[in-house]
Amino acid sequence: MPKQNSVSLPYSEVTPKAAYLSRRDLIKTAALPLAAFQAGAATKLSGYKKSGFSTSEKQTPYNAITTYNNYYEFGLDKDMPAVNARNFKTSPWTIRIDGEVAKEKTIDFDALMKLAPLEERVYRLRCVEGWSMVVPWIGFPLSALIKAAEPASKAKFVQFETYFDLKQMPEARYAGLPFPYIEALRMDEAMHPLTILSAGLYGETMPNQNGAPVRLVVPWKYGFKSVKSIARIRFTEKKPLTTWTIANPREYGFQANVNPEVDHPRWSQARERRIGEFGKRDTLKFNGYADQVASLYGGLDLRKNY
Ligand code: MTE
Repeated sequence: MPKQNSVSLPYSEVTPKAAYLSRRDLIKTAALPLAAFQAGAATKLSGYKKSGFSTSEKQTPYNAITTYNNYYEFGLDKDMPAVNARNFKTSPWTIRIDGEVAKEKTIDFDALMKLAPLEERVYRLRCVEGWSMVVPWIGFPLSALIKAAEPASKAKFVQFETYFDLKQMPEARYAGLPFPYIEALRMDEAMHPLTILSAGLYGETMPNQNGAPVRLVVPWKYGFKSVKSIARIRFTEKKPLTTWTIANPREYGFQANVNPEVDHPRWSQARERRIGEFGKRDTLKFNGYADQVASLYGGLDLRKNY
């Protein structure tokens, strides 16, 4: 059932009236969650459950989550992705699954959405830059996709690749980053129940600037791990490269676990600014998810493995 009470602002307050009204018309025609996805524009999702993994902290307003973005393919300033990704084509959409798997394959978005029931997961998102948000994601555990992909026993890592098309993403030229954007997890991190593929937020399909149609969310790691608009998932035996470790290995590591005790070379990571609030709060180790994930890093020196 849709959870209306999870929306802290009515759409009429965050959306221009015309868009709000046409969105309402779309909702009427969307009988099933899948129908909503096929509609292309951000539309209401239904039939998802609330997950027990959610935080009860105050959710960051929809308009802040969707206008303060890092999506360098669509521009360097925080307000640029919302404008430049407006016409990004996310349907039809496929994900290539390859590398160390029983059989390489391409899965389309509708088939992906049938792998597991959708859930709402309200997670903290902590960016390496020192800000944070609380986002009500709609998605399902990445483990459901991994099981369906049938990775070989020698697969030890999972690499994710964002769709890349310079024609649709001309601003990418100025980002100074190698594209397509790539990120990766160890297999045990990828299989962890907190790690999700998300296809929406605030009860609607994913806005383009947040990584439509489907993105990764790994809540105990800095936000840059949560790769957007996934077009390829590759299983590997060796530790894969990642965009930020290629661009600046001294400043950004493979692990990227949120850790207030380990400073970024140019700034402290001890505190954070919650978007929409004044002042700063303490950053929590593993972004507050230590009880669930600290055991994954038992043997690891977190100062060296930042
Ligand atoms: N994915 C791609 N493809 N390109 C990006 O620039 N930025 C990352 C991550 N995923 C990024 C990306 C960073 S730095 C952060 S903090 C989060 O997306 C931001 O997600 P949000 O815009 O939904 O808050």
